[in-house]
Amino acid sequence: MGKVIVITSGKGGVGKSTTAASIGAGLAGAGKRTLLIDMDVGLRSLDMMLGAENEMVYDLTDLASGICSFDQALYQDKKRDKLFMLPSAQQTDSSSITPSDMKALMYSLKDMFDFVLLDCPAGIGRGFRNACASADAAILVLTPDGISLRSAERAKQLMELDGISDVQILINRVSKKNPLSTDECIHRLQLPVLGFIPEDDAVPLSAGRGCAVIDTESVAGDAFERIVRRLLGETVRYKIPHEKLFHKLKTGFGKEPACKLG
Ligand SMILES: Nc1ncnc2c1ncn2[C@@H]1O[C@H](COP(=O)(O)OP(=O)(O)OP(=O)(O)O)[C@@H](O)[C@H]1O
Ligand SMILES: [Mg+2]
Repeated sequence: MGKVIVITSGKGGVGKSTTAASIGAGLAGAGKRTLLIDMDVGLRSLDMMLGAENEMVYDLTDLASGICSFDQALYQDKKRDKLFMLPSAQQTDSSSITPSDMKALMYSLKDMFDFVLLDCPAGIGRGFRNACASADAAILVLTPDGISLRSAERAKQLMELDGISDVQILINRVSKKNPLSTDECIHRLQLPVLGFIPEDDAVPLSAGRGCAVIDTESVAGDAFERIVRRLLGETVRYKIPHEKLFHKLKTGFGKEPACKLG
């Protein structure tokens, strides 16, 4: 029986889709059948981040309404045969899917995959509720600043009401310039930590080329690899990698990182 994990935040633009793409690629690379579902109806992005924007035919709304079969809807990644994607609809809004549609879909998909990752849209509206309705666990993504932290606290409360008790935090864009420390965020949220991702130019550069950052030689890629190993049950040492010179040397002073998968 597979596990459904929602990747959420409350605040927009903190790195949910980046996280979903890299963790999905990492789990599939480790041999786990993994499905990534873009829940951002009307504003999909995961397909572009994984270089598959011209490949998608059907979407989540088509599948939920029975227009297509699972085989037709699920797109298999060209680089990893264990990674599948289901995009959100572009031409409709989040009311085209309901929490009960999601529960019914997950019931079937859990038999087909080891992991189903739901990439939540920004906010705590319909898309958030649809994603949380069917999740067994959550990764709460935040950046170390007051607005993101406050949104994460609200998302945490709402997930508790939805009965999701397995919630871990991922602190993204960690750098020396952050207004809050990672310790303050952890102290306020009182949740287990899945990991830290540094601020790294490799993230936007790789996304722009349709490559998950975990597939690049970069500090953010290494950090995602450690997170994937933790999700698979390994005990992996925590690193908060923002030692300035080391970081710049590793990221080639902002140079475009090579994609390991070509
Ligand atoms: N660790 C990082 N270092 C540098 N840039 C980052 C990092 N993480 C994310 N970004 C950049 O931040 C932007 C937002 O990331 P992303 O799309 O993953 O966020 P999101 O939470 O999914 O956004 P939305 O709420 O709109 O769906 C992107 O341009 C991405 O490249
Ligand atoms: Mg997103």
